[in-house]
Amino acid sequence: MKKSFEQSRSVWMDTAEVPLESSLSERISTDVCVVGAGIAGMTTAYLLAAEGKSVVVLDDGPIGGGMTGRTTAHLVNALDDRYFELERLHGEEGARLAAESHTAAINAIEAVVKQEAIDCEFERLDGYLFVPPGESQKILNDELEAVHRAGLTDIEKVERVPWDTYDTGPALRFPRQGQFHPLKYLTGLARAIKQKGGRIYTGTHANEIEGGKQARIETITGGVVTAGAVVVATNTPVNDLIAIHTKQAAYQTYVIGARIPKGSVTRALYWDTPDPYHYIRIETVGKGAKAHDVLIVGGEDHKTGQQDDANKRFGALERWTRHRFPMVESIEYRWSGEVMEPVDGLAFIGRNPMDKDNVFIATGDSGNGMTHGTIAGLLITDLIMGRKNAWEKIYDPSRVTLKALPEFAKESLNVAMQYTDLVVAGDVDSVDEVKAGAGAIMSRGLSKVAVYRDPEGEVHEFSAVCRHLGCIVKWNTLENTWDCPCHGSRYDSLGKVIQGPANSDLEEVEQAADGRRQTAGSG
Ligand SMILES: Cc1cc2nc3c(=O)[nH]c(=O)nc-3n(C[C@H](O)[C@H](O)[C@H](O)COP(=O)(O)OP(=O)(O)OC[C@H]3O[C@@H](n4cnc5c(N)ncnc54)[C@H](O)[C@@H]3O)c2cc1C
Ligand code: FES
Repeated sequence: MKKSFEQSRSVWMDTAEVPLESSLSERISTDVCVVGAGIAGMTTAYLLAAEGKSVVVLDDGPIGGGMTGRTTAHLVNALDDRYFELERLHGEEGARLAAESHTAAINAIEAVVKQEAIDCEFERLDGYLFVPPGESQKILNDELEAVHRAGLTDIEKVERVPWDTYDTGPALRFPRQGQFHPLKYLTGLARAIKQKGGRIYTGTHANEIEGGKQARIETITGGVVTAGAVVVATNTPVNDLIAIHTKQAAYQTYVIGARIPKGSVTRALYWDTPDPYHYIRIETVGKGAKAHDVLIVGGEDHKTGQQDDANKRFGALERWTRHRFPMVESIEYRWSGEVMEPVDGLAFIGRNPMDKDNVFIATGDSGNGMTHGTIAGLLITDLIMGRKNAWEKIYDPSRVTLKALPEFAKESLNVAMQYTDLVVAGDVDSVDEVKAGAGAIMSRGLSKVAVYRDPEGEVHEFSAVCRHLGCIVKWNTLENTWDCPCHGSRYDSLGKVIQGPANSDLEEVEQAADGRRQTAGSG
């Protein structure tokens, strides 16, 4: 399977050259096999290789071709889900461990950058949290008290964020946050993994993953890996059917990159507090006299597959940005990506529930996947090395957080509602209505068909039934993908799976001899 990708491009994809690796077609064995070459998988592989373990990394795209290439790469202990909320859900000690682990993750990234001399623009900077104009300051006051209880005592309330063009009013200042270029960081990790004897294979889809005395990973390119342990770092686990996917929800989020004169906005990280919130940072592009800044602004999230109005969302982000930053010259980038929101605010990192002891997962990052992915590396390395780790319990994928039951019930109801698509009419009545370069769902008898007409006019048809748990996929006009509204699986226009939890392609619909169409494999 050769993986195809979404249409939009991030600033990182345009400003880094990620090395190409070959695919795996042989039988090999190793201490640890890591599936997924994003930040979670690459950090885990690097740390295990540094411990002297032999590691193999498999990815069905290129290195960083998943969400790590689409992130905005704020490195923070200022968490999305607010410390007062984490305290309510996980207790004061849980919130303290969350603060400790994210702080440790930023420190670990800084140490790896230094140790391996990775040129990835890592820098420390302040982060500012502010409320929208006219809104109560209560959330800031509650958060300030909670972060102090969690041990982050250097956070303070300031009069406003350091913008000349817009007065936000009071804000919380989080010192010593970080940012970097995520693909340059992964490129450095790849070099270091290989220097330590690790092997990386790309274009290699893992279609069977089994734990046991010897874990066994079968790939679609014919390669087979046997390993002492397997780490499934595929952003959302492709080896788990239900346990995790009822405890997290997939959201699409949108980003614009606005060209601004270099130095015209103070370099820092910024977030506001609505749901969804805005997240802002600055990236310098180009060198010398040609250098300029790109103001990266994200937000406008919605549940994956439940809306298809990206242009409206980019428009809203642009208006929000131009209102605050009149120095914006043009919008150079527009991209989207998927974020996994856990119902209780913390990632799921550790042993895969109801599986063999040597199968590990990392998922449920929320908007803090750079640090959660790094925590995954630190924690899973300790688990595999047989060491105790104080964060094991708060990130345990098997945990049930009783206080998160209302959120769990809300998400479960939302998923249940998506199954009504099995019986409602499709988007179009006939293939003729589908324009070149577009896709639509059509009813044919009792079945739902995903119809894509490619730019040359050829029609491709697939069963619209998601390979995970049978919801009906939806067309995503921005990315030319089929997105599942239930748990966030995504497929490219030609039905190839590009994002779990599904791990196989949409079934093709074949033309039967009598002219009727039927799904491949049906009678
Ligand atoms: C727009 C956006 C902004 C964000 N901003 C931030 C931020 O500022 N700070 C922050 O901390 N986090 C942020 N996040 C979240 C963060 O980017 C992600 O949580 C993180 O990148 C996930 O990393 P990962 O390694 O788990 O997954 P990925 O980077 O998605 O890597 C998973 C890899 O697994 C591969 N794969 C999947 N299935 C298979 C298979 N069967 N076989 C082989 N390979 C497979 C994929 O090809 C992919 O390369 C943001 C996310 C988005 C989308
Ligand atoms: S992602 Fe679960 S049914 Fe599609």
